[in-house]
Amino acid sequence: MNKKILAALGCGIAAAAMMGMTAMAEDGELIRVGYAQVGHESDWRTANTQNYQDTFTEENGFELSLIDCDNDNAAQLEAVRNFITQEMDYIIIAPIQSAGWDTVLQEAMDAGIPVIIADREIESDASMYDAWVGTDPTKEGETAGNWLAEYLDGADANILVIEGSVGASAAIGRTNGFNAVAETHDNWTILDSQSGDFTQDGGQEVMESFIKSYEGQFNVVVCQNDNEAYGAMDAMDAAGITYGVDGDVILISFDTTHDGLQYVLDGKIHCNVECNPIQAETVMGVINAMEAGEEYEAVTYVEEGAFVAPGIESEFATTMTQEILDGRPY
Ligand code: AHR
Repeated sequence: MNKKILAALGCGIAAAAMMGMTAMAEDGELIRVGYAQVGHESDWRTANTQNYQDTFTEENGFELSLIDCDNDNAAQLEAVRNFITQEMDYIIIAPIQSAGWDTVLQEAMDAGIPVIIADREIESDASMYDAWVGTDPTKEGETAGNWLAEYLDGADANILVIEGSVGASAAIGRTNGFNAVAETHDNWTILDSQSGDFTQDGGQEVMESFIKSYEGQFNVVVCQNDNEAYGAMDAMDAAGITYGVDGDVILISFDTTHDGLQYVLDGKIHCNVECNPIQAETVMGVINAMEAGEEYEAVTYVEEGAFVAPGIESEFATTMTQEILDGRPY
């Protein structure tokens, strides 16, 4: 089923390669790819979905079936099982939860359908899937912690954390990475850490509840994605709490989506650690290599950086400028 050759729209192999076109099935049919997407919880997720829709095109030799699983773990397992029933050529999974994948991965393996895990990590052994392409949330969390230590320069930190979705590797990794740095600072206290589910509403609700419990006691808020940060900012605005480089609270976010970086440029978010949603080209490269029977990278981490507000110089992040914002692809 997956024995495919490079041929593209009658242009010939060399011409197709020059035009950036990719493989089609030996019989000239499009390669059928099922993508079990997490949902539409954040601007980051929207950018990731768009990236797949722009990449896995008919012009590139693919028929993409993208299922928005609405952050529902059971729906995502069902989506993958439907892809198996439909005999997709490849299945891509951006796992909502890191646990619980062994059974369905075994089913895909039994059906002979290659699986690529994308974006997030899973607990299953690497032998249960064919390739992994994604981000490094533990490193992202460490970067946030290291930047904070550099910025505080020995000052005390009383920290509130708005985590991502419970059980998601993006949340687990960022928490672990940040906490590992926090543990090395005796004068840092994590007052509380609650899930905002990677949504703006979630971030606002958690921040409102934090303000009730800890008003006047915190000087750092860590939001594990940009949408949560927007919600937290709304909650602090409503309570008259100032944040950003001219305010009382240091605000850290993750994702570096366009609006998130605009807030960095405006000095409202101090530090924004990148989580790169542009992954589809890398996944397509893996599939094309599989199609051609060539070796491929079993594990690929996409490139990620971090950005800080104008006026801040950092060993761990780039100082934000309008030029950087204008040049961003998402
Ligand atoms: O897995 C990536 C994370 O999921 C992003 O940080 C977040 O915005 C998204 O919902």
